[in-house]
Amino acid sequence: MKILDGKLAAASVKQILKAEVDILLQNNQRKPHLAAILIGNNGASETYVASKVKNCEEVGFESSLIRFENNITEEQLLSKITELNNDNTVDGILVQLPLPKHISEAKVIEAISPAKDVDGFHPVSVGKLVQGLQTFIPATPYGIMLMLEHFNIETKGKHAVVIGRSNIVGRPMSILLSSNHPQGNSTVTLCHSHTPNLQEICLQADIIVAALGKPGFVKAEMVKDGAVIIDVGITRVEDATAKKGFRIKGDVDFDEVAPKSSAITPVPGGVGLMTIAGLLKNTLQAYKNNSVN
Ligand SMILES: NC(=O)c1ccc[n+]([C@@H]2O[C@H](COP(=O)([O-])OP(=O)(O)OC[C@H]3O[C@@H](n4cnc5c(N)ncnc54)[C@H](OP(=O)(O)O)[C@@H]3O)[C@@H](O)[C@H]2O)c1
Repeated sequence: MKILDGKLAAASVKQILKAEVDILLQNNQRKPHLAAILIGNNGASETYVASKVKNCEEVGFESSLIRFENNITEEQLLSKITELNNDNTVDGILVQLPLPKHISEAKVIEAISPAKDVDGFHPVSVGKLVQGLQTFIPATPYGIMLMLEHFNIETKGKHAVVIGRSNIVGRPMSILLSSNHPQGNSTVTLCHSHTPNLQEICLQADIIVAALGKPGFVKAEMVKDGAVIIDVGITRVEDATAKKGFRIKGDVDFDEVAPKSSAITPVPGGVGLMTIAGLLKNTLQAYKNNSVN
């Protein structure tokens, strides 16, 4: 069994990105620039955004963190997004989700210019993804594809089972794995909370992508010998013995499933780190597109 170490794979992606930025700077070009909007003070969101900003610095990008209180109006947020859309020195815009209840996620996502949609959530980006056109791929599925590439995991002709059909992970993941490209060409079954016989379906899987947000959900009896397991889940589970009072748990029961698998991502240290690699790659691509126009 092989551990698919997100730290290793992400480091290799970031090394290539940094080398590209170094060349830009040697040629007196400006740095790629990511603007991140964070609303309120949700602990997990704070951690994610801080890590995105830190990783931008590591590869030599510029980043701007724009913070708002929870009571910001939808209009104010949309107006900030318009301002960033019109700012030629900003290449990528991300709005950290979830948003406060009084703000429409759909409106916010649609307000971001598709040219700066480095999270890949805009309907234009999703439409292009479905049609196999060049676009910004949502960062988590993109990161998983980069990880599969890094570790030479064969997907062609395999049966991949994706558990979870969210717009940010499961659905785009199912599209990518079924698309005609080197990390695709799988036959994909997309499962959700209304899927009967989930265990039976999972037992037929060569690759399982678990993205449902239920810690330890995938058990050994759901996995066939030699399957590749991609655990997307990140849930904070209370634990008084942990320094922070919680531990991060994945959707896979790692201790049970790892010995049966041929390869498995750990949580933490797996997909989460690759998500940032995907975001950074999208940002550099947005910069390149921006420089051409
Ligand atoms: N590693 C990363 O970088 C990263 C990035 C994003 C998310 N995540 C994590 O990934 C997990 C999923 O995130 P998400 O945003 O995709 O979650 P989400 O929007 O809550 O979607 C969960 C999906 O799982 C399905 N589901 C729930 N219970 C199920 C069950 N018992 N059997 C089969 N399907 C079930 C739901 O089905 P219905 O559609 O029928 O409700 C839904 O499609 C979370 O733990 C999240 O924190 C990690």
